[in-house]
Amino acid sequence: MNEKEKGMSTKAVHAGEKRDPSSGSVITPIYQTSVFAFSSTQDLIAVMSGKEIEGHIYSRISNPTLRVAEKKVAELEGAEDAAVFSSGMAAITTVILSLASSGSHIVSTNELYGGSLSFFNNILTKFGVEISMVDPTDYEGIESAIKSNTVAIYTESPTNPTVKVVDLKKVAEIGKEKGIITIVDNTFASPFNQQPYKMGIDVVIHSATKYLGGHNDIIAGVVSGSKEFINSLTATRKLLGGVLDPHAAWLLIRGMKTLVPRMARLNHNATRVARYLESHPKVEKVYYPGLVSHPHFSVAKEQMRGFGSVVTFEIKGDLETAIKFVENLKLCALTPSLGGVESLVTQPATSSHFYIEREERLKLGITDGMIRLAVGIEDANDIISDLEQSFNIV
Ligand SMILES: Cc1ncc(COP(=O)(O)O)c(C=O)c1O
Repeated sequence: MNEKEKGMSTKAVHAGEKRDPSSGSVITPIYQTSVFAFSSTQDLIAVMSGKEIEGHIYSRISNPTLRVAEKKVAELEGAEDAAVFSSGMAAITTVILSLASSGSHIVSTNELYGGSLSFFNNILTKFGVEISMVDPTDYEGIESAIKSNTVAIYTESPTNPTVKVVDLKKVAEIGKEKGIITIVDNTFASPFNQQPYKMGIDVVIHSATKYLGGHNDIIAGVVSGSKEFINSLTATRKLLGGVLDPHAAWLLIRGMKTLVPRMARLNHNATRVARYLESHPKVEKVYYPGLVSHPHFSVAKEQMRGFGSVVTFEIKGDLETAIKFVENLKLCALTPSLGGVESLVTQPATSSHFYIEREERLKLGITDGMIRLAVGIEDANDIISDLEQSFNIV
């Protein structure tokens, strides 16, 4: 091991941080400013021309608080650089718009966050970008969907809500062999559990609203990759304008400092809950990549350090049974997000997949009784007790 390489907890706390020389403040200040003043035109030109790379002019372009968040994310992902965005969707759309043009083609896997799917199918196609949708674990399908005008392969792992695990080394190999950029939405894993850049994936995206922020209190997105890619991406971000606000960047920095203990706790709690659910007589099926029964357990074990907080299960009964179950939970809040300290619960049929025809939804394996639990950092026993009292009434 490289002697100089710091551990992930140390990186999470210290990476990117530069003590403010004017005050000695241990904590990075919030540079809540739109503009930065210059003492001379020469200095302004040095920043504008890129000669002075750490200088700042206008906070839509760059900002010192944002740079700390970006450097921390890059270190956590093991990437060269990173860029922060006003949301996960701003990150995704800016990445794609920086790469695609009319007449180009993207190979995407078909089990994506609903917003990404909608962007691909309803917006990108309006501008003459062609999309092929492929099963995320059909690697031959991914390869054979590539055409001469393909500019990117886009996937997520684990997927939502059935937490399929995509073999990212295989996807990276396909991209390298064909000379096509590979992009992974790593939101459901977090950099603690999975580092796609180190596996050869070119671009890694997160909805930082989830594990990176970690407290259900910000909306943010991040992208990591090579310096060259991030430079061209921030040039596009400057024009599309989806940059993060300094105050939200500061909350993101604070959230990331505890990424390691939070993720360790979430992985532990979710494993306990998944095992409990697997042995419950009122549960039909459990989807969690850390269970030996999960079809992608061996890939997950190979490429992930832990398996995340999302445990999906099917309750025996119908849609009404599932509604009654989630509505009766006391500790777990009924809301569609994940990755924060609070336990959250949602029904894909009535939230992420609500607008999809039932037939279509069932074809995707999203059943009426499916419940997605995003476990929090509370005591696992209390989460389990909450589930138990709700099972008792259905
Ligand atoms: C996997 C995934 N990617 C992207 C997004 C979009 O992120 P945001 O809500 O921060 O825009 C989400 C949101 O739930 C998500 O779950």
